[in-house]
Amino acid sequence: MTSVLNLPALAHEPDAERRRVVLLTVATASAGLVAVAVPFVSSFAPSERAKAMGASVEVDIADIPPGGIKTVEWRGKPVWIMRRTPEMLAALPAQDARLVDPASLRKQQPAYATNAQRSIRPEVFVGVGICTHLGCSPNSVPAGTSNPSVGADWAGGFFCPCHGSTFDLAGRVFQNKPAPMNLEVPPHKYLSEGKLLIGEDDLGAA
Ligand code: FES
Repeated sequence: MTSVLNLPALAHEPDAERRRVVLLTVATASAGLVAVAVPFVSSFAPSERAKAMGASVEVDIADIPPGGIKTVEWRGKPVWIMRRTPEMLAALPAQDARLVDPASLRKQQPAYATNAQRSIRPEVFVGVGICTHLGCSPNSVPAGTSNPSVGADWAGGFFCPCHGSTFDLAGRVFQNKPAPMNLEVPPHKYLSEGKLLIGEDDLGAA
């Protein structure tokens, strides 16, 4: 570093040999800086595993049957993609009076999923399968189940076995349960009719 600082003063030095030594010293110092800088930068580069953990996930949804659900992993979390039937969609408004946040005002979803179905396409629900109470993974429980935990008028949805929270088919939490919030809807977008990308959207979320 000292050589770099001295360089302007020596630029007028008539002694050619002295100038050669100075230039050599500067070159050596620069090479040293590069050698030190490369590992330093590398130590901050994300590992392949970290990149994979944060990467978006492409999902083929064409094979999900009506009423079916597919689970993929995104950033270490389960993400559900459910193809809701017309009957499932019709059951949603009937739940509103019993929900904590029926209009999804607590922003557990991107703006494009802030609607009655909490989705881009009404029939396809995309939600993070992690309970907003203490992080267990709820189960999908269909309408007509004999599971006594969800009540006789259960229209289908998700049940968390840890402490009994229940969510409707749009991931909205029912009142008087431990979970305080609706399930999260992750950023996502459609790449084609049958392809979904989880983890990215056109609003810049990633
Ligand atoms: S973790 Fe789901 S109800 Fe407690």
